[in-house]
Amino acid sequence: MTAIVIDGKQTAASIIAIVKSAAVGLESDAKVKPGLAVVIVGDDPASHTYVTSKSRMASECGFNSIQHTLPEKVTQEELSRLVETLNQDISIHGILVQLPLPKHLDPEPIIQSIRPQKDVDGLHVVNAGKVATGDLDGGLVSCTPAGAMVFVRRIHGDDLSGLNAVVIGRSNLFGKPMSALLLAANATVTTAHSRTRDLPSVCRNADILVAAVGRPEMVKADWVKPGATIIDVGINRTFVSEGKSRLVGDVAFAECGEVAGAITPVPGGVGPMTIAMLMANTVIAAYRAESRTPPKF
Ligand code: GUN
Repeated sequence: MTAIVIDGKQTAASIIAIVKSAAVGLESDAKVKPGLAVVIVGDDPASHTYVTSKSRMASECGFNSIQHTLPEKVTQEELSRLVETLNQDISIHGILVQLPLPKHLDPEPIIQSIRPQKDVDGLHVVNAGKVATGDLDGGLVSCTPAGAMVFVRRIHGDDLSGLNAVVIGRSNLFGKPMSALLLAANATVTTAHSRTRDLPSVCRNADILVAAVGRPEMVKADWVKPGATIIDVGINRTFVSEGKSRLVGDVAFAECGEVAGAITPVPGGVGPMTIAMLMANTVIAAYRAESRTPPKF
């Protein structure tokens, strides 16, 4: 491996350190603890694992950490009422409804009913719109693209003028906001997807290559421009042998690491950053609620 392997755990820890000191500052100056409410419906084990880590990290950051676990059979109206209660609760600055919801529930009206100022997932159209228009200081940026941008900034600085960035994937959850953030930082951005012609040659132009497609180890070494920065957003569970599986990204890590300048591993890259940026968004929301200038991440 000749590339620098970007340490997501260490980068996340540096974000968490800023969050903790910001939380201490807010409590001593304004007597307010950042409050995060995480809502989970049903008993999907993977979702519970994620939510437990989020709630635990919120407590560790010194937040008022609230978890609402609703039964699988909860109605749309009951879930709506809970979100409305949390919208009105001044001790809660961030609301996260864990997705996916059970099939009988429609997630869209629920997400759009969260007050944009409390939408720490950055999924409300108001927040998505601010990212799309380049208003990055007014709204809340969704956590995974925000985390990926921290890596990009630490390697290339704040100004990406003259650099080509390629994002593979065009989802509302990641690809679109990621492309918008890179563009706002002055990169020349291509958003590639399943209908792109000759994806390998498009990728070979990238100084910054971001993969978010959900196909295990799709990006190969000969797709990579020498010295490029590769951010791997994929999390794919692949079968190894009976009862055994392992997590791999969308990038063939070992071979691409021989060509790239810097690369994120899976696990231990983007993953730990997502939760750190959720904490960052919560502390930002709490500062704004108190009309104070939040820290930059
Ligand atoms: N499920 C998996 N990832 C996420 C996320 O980032 N936010 C929410 N709300 N649900 C998720």
